[in-house]
Amino acid sequence: MTTIQDSPTAAGSGANASQVFKDTASTRDVADTPPERVAAIVTSILQGVHGAIAEHDVTYPEFQAAKAWLMSVGEGGEWPLFMDVFVEHAVEEQVAKSQTGTKGSILGPYFLPDQTRLSSTCSLPRRADEQGTPLVLEGQVRDTDGTPLAGSEVDIWHADSDGYYSGFAPHVPDGNLRGVVVTDEEGRFAIDTIQPAPYQIPHDGPTGQMIEAAGWHPWRPAHLHIQVRAEGHRTITTQLYFAGGDYLDSDVAEATKPELVLDPQDDGTGTRRSTYDFELEPEA
Ligand code: BEZ
Ligand code: FE
Repeated sequence: MTTIQDSPTAAGSGANASQVFKDTASTRDVADTPPERVAAIVTSILQGVHGAIAEHDVTYPEFQAAKAWLMSVGEGGEWPLFMDVFVEHAVEEQVAKSQTGTKGSILGPYFLPDQTRLSSTCSLPRRADEQGTPLVLEGQVRDTDGTPLAGSEVDIWHADSDGYYSGFAPHVPDGNLRGVVVTDEEGRFAIDTIQPAPYQIPHDGPTGQMIEAAGWHPWRPAHLHIQVRAEGHRTITTQLYFAGGDYLDSDVAEATKPELVLDPQDDGTGTRRSTYDFELEPEA
């Protein structure tokens, strides 16, 4: 059972992400990795570490500082956060080499399963006083051969205009700016929401200390998370970004792709509208 920490801090939301990751373990495929492959992967990782030590002439104080920092990442419950920021994009890019259809991107730590199901034309659940520019995302879900996929699920979640995700910040109501949109008989959907702002990954814990110590920044460009599911097709997990937005070229999580950038236009009423179609490849 997920228990969200009653913490308003960014590090609190990272720890909450760890809790959710543990609680949803049964929903993930189990890796059945044979010993030879484990040995090969671990050997390569260790060779990378040993190579960095030699290349940078690492000292004992630096080695001990690294051990203390690794302990604090664990104690702060930030390993899922760290892995999703600095490692997941490389796994996604590797897996994508053998895939067709709409480009994917990282899942990140803030997906929650089983959100409210919504009809194909819908408004995402939000607070009465939700801040942010109105945004409508519309489009169609199709097979890679062009066949519309009726009844597919467009699962969407994004941060509010302060960068907080429902389920991970105590002051945001459950289900806020999240929903599973079911496409109509032509595979179409139209989702009314608000445009999220650029977002800082939780940086008041050890992950943030490392980012600051390295002189980097903790920002991700504004983005919508989307997972598209249709029977008999490979699920696409992706993110959509906004043309001209800050941090598009310096995403701390390195998860942007040019194919995933929207360019919403004001429709004359103050609402920004954008169209994006998704193409799903048949399951192997
Ligand atoms: C995200 O919201 O997309 C995200 C947050 C933390 C780490 C990686 C991704
Ligand atoms: Fe995100």
